[in-house]
Amino acid sequence: MNLEGRVALVTGASQGIGRACALHLARNGASVAVAARNAQKLDELVAEIASTGAKAAAFAMDVADEEQVKAGIKAALAHFGKIDILVNNAGITRDQLVMRMKRADWDAVLATNLTSAYLAIQQVIPSMLKQRWGRIINISSVFGRTGQAGQANYAASKAGLLGLTMAIAREVASRSITCNAVAPGFIETNMTAGLSDEFKQTALKQIPLGRVGTPDDVANAVTFLASEEAAYITGHVLNVNGGMLMG
Ligand SMILES: NC(=O)c1ccc[n+]([C@@H]2O[C@H](COP(=O)([O-])OP(=O)(O)OC[C@H]3O[C@@H](n4cnc5c(N)ncnc54)[C@H](OP(=O)(O)O)[C@@H]3O)[C@@H](O)[C@H]2O)c1
Repeated sequence: MNLEGRVALVTGASQGIGRACALHLARNGASVAVAARNAQKLDELVAEIASTGAKAAAFAMDVADEEQVKAGIKAALAHFGKIDILVNNAGITRDQLVMRMKRADWDAVLATNLTSAYLAIQQVIPSMLKQRWGRIINISSVFGRTGQAGQANYAASKAGLLGLTMAIAREVASRSITCNAVAPGFIETNMTAGLSDEFKQTALKQIPLGRVGTPDDVANAVTFLASEEAAYITGHVLNVNGGMLMG
């Protein structure tokens, strides 16, 4: 994929899938604005990307905080002059059966996983509309399509991202801006590190390709959707799940 001249902003880039996305986009020629709360990890990532000769800059922000999203993206736009590719990847879980789920845990997951994407899209879209080119990629989840016991908040946020993706895709299609979702299955990151071995073994049995996914598996899909080659794909949900859910 040739992303020379493109500027990407990746949220949740301090580790896991977002970090891999930032590295892959940079490796393919993009300049990358990396966002998350952990400024130290972002600085390390920027140094790693810079050491390869690509351009990167860190914008520490809490994506659940509207003012921080606005200020952070404004700063990224000022730094790079534009944002061509937005990857809404920041996400959290606060698992609990719905009967016991605290309102605060519902709100935190919806704010971090879903409302953040709406806010970021709103901030980047004027510059994309002006230049008549853009790529918006929302990181959903297989559980946004199937639901998952104990994850009513998470599944609702990830299903919400699919609706958001299709609505935005329709709103901006006439300006050659695409909006797609990637729905990872079971990916080895800090998010899944705490799951019990029993859960992992059961999940593995449901994956036809017989292995859990890596952040690189997801980053490859994101890089493709960000490319010129994906120009005719919009409103799509791309599964990256080893066959865990098909169709
Ligand atoms: N791992 C999986 O199996 C899997 C499957 C399907 C979908 N996903 C999705 O993929 C995305 C990345 O997950 P991951 O597995 O890479 O998890 P992870 O290792 O826990 O990384 C989550 C990232 O989100 C950032 N983040 C969380 N809350 C934030 C906030 N309020 N403001 C800014 N950044 C925030 C974190 O950075 P800071 O802590 O530095 O802020 C971190 O960089 C998530 O949306 C997740 O739902 C993961």
